[in-house]
Amino acid sequence: MKLSIIGVGYVGLVTGVCFANLGIEVLCADNDEKKIDLLNNGGIPIYEPGLEELVKKCIANGRLAFTSDIKKAVKTSEVIFICVGTPPRDDGSADLSEIEKVSKVIAENMDSYKLVVEKSTVPVETGEWVKKTINTFKSKNCEFDAASNPEFLREGSAIEDFMKPDRIVIGVESKKAEKILKELYGPLDTKIVVTNIKGAEIIKHASNSFLATKISFINALSNICDKTGADINAVAEGVGLDKRINKHFLKAGVGFGGSCFPKDLKAFIHISETLGHPFDMLKEVEKINEMQKDIVVRKAIDMLWNIKDKTIAIWGLAFKPNTDDIRSSPAIDIIESLLKEGAKIKAFDPAAMEKAKNRLGEKIIYCKDVYETAEDADCIILMTEWNEFKEVNWNKIKNIMAQCAVLDGRNIYDSEKLKELGFKYMGMGRR
Ligand code: UGA
Repeated sequence: MKLSIIGVGYVGLVTGVCFANLGIEVLCADNDEKKIDLLNNGGIPIYEPGLEELVKKCIANGRLAFTSDIKKAVKTSEVIFICVGTPPRDDGSADLSEIEKVSKVIAENMDSYKLVVEKSTVPVETGEWVKKTINTFKSKNCEFDAASNPEFLREGSAIEDFMKPDRIVIGVESKKAEKILKELYGPLDTKIVVTNIKGAEIIKHASNSFLATKISFINALSNICDKTGADINAVAEGVGLDKRINKHFLKAGVGFGGSCFPKDLKAFIHISETLGHPFDMLKEVEKINEMQKDIVVRKAIDMLWNIKDKTIAIWGLAFKPNTDDIRSSPAIDIIESLLKEGAKIKAFDPAAMEKAKNRLGEKIIYCKDVYETAEDADCIILMTEWNEFKEVNWNKIKNIMAQCAVLDGRNIYDSEKLKELGFKYMGMGRR
């Protein structure tokens, strides 16, 4: 079976290389010629642990290739995964024009049976539109099926998530499409949930909204802990050991970010309103997430009395560890607010420095490591829980700071140890 991926962004690239690694012949297509040239020359446009090695391996064994010729990708494959971007519009809804364009190219170039699978995160009912578009523009009378197969990959652990998923969801409307998708995922030993296309689309909305809700729930709880003197880490453990709740996604912090939760939440709120059943609970989830960033700024003020002209060391710029992605990163929004308050910012991130420079320019000082950020700083704010921020030489840091204060935005440090060393400490829902 030959497979094509259209749209070589995060999802498309990871999906393509992982299928190739499972032994399938994969052609990845994108109209961004620069990106295709880079990939054909062994380069990788994104930072993702293990991806570069796997891409090289699969190119070398002939199972993975890249092209900017989307028509060719359509003609030469039986299964086509649509993985193009669905960026948010001003009203929060997803812009689906790329999906429509690709559906049209598929329709105009298919000359045999095709299974067209939407993998991009799309609003429910996109599958219907893909079908309608292909039926409207197909030039030959060949059969096709549409299907939905939402992805649940997390940046930073995308390959592992693909290879060892909790489940695979396929939304199909024919036995043939179901058989092909089950065969494709056959080598992965996991439960496959089969439903119709709309069901699969809603599973994706529901999964991301529920996970974002868990995070906002624990963040709201962390503020109650702050006021009462309880420790949110202990509270989360006590709550999360109940199997009905479970411990995952109960880490309080500076708020969720990334290219998925904030965008998907907006899109689902918009869809629910369009359907006449506003999912207002999700608006509160968003609100709590926005508030959490303000709370970080307020805590910095509480620690330093006045922020104006104080130097703040920022540890971490990416929205989470193991990625260079700063899209909707809470660190960036918090830095902007601190700058407005007149603070001077020195920052370091193990992977996201380039992207941060493009975004923040000369507004902040970029450092080579945590120690350089701490020199003459009045406070450290830990934004991203990279492993290398967990083991630092606090004695060294103590001696180079102007004031010894740590705002632990991800609750990773031993507060007693830091206090013994003479640091002022504040966490998110713990002291
Ligand atoms: C998320 C989902 O986890 C994936 O299943 C999904 O496929 C993906 O979105 C998508 O829709 O494409 P991702 O955005 O890569 O994946 O990252 P997550 O690991 O989910 O983290 C998202 C944000 O939540 C990060 O800012 C992280 O720091 C924050 N978070 C996560 C918390 O603040 N607390 C937690 O307990 C967990």
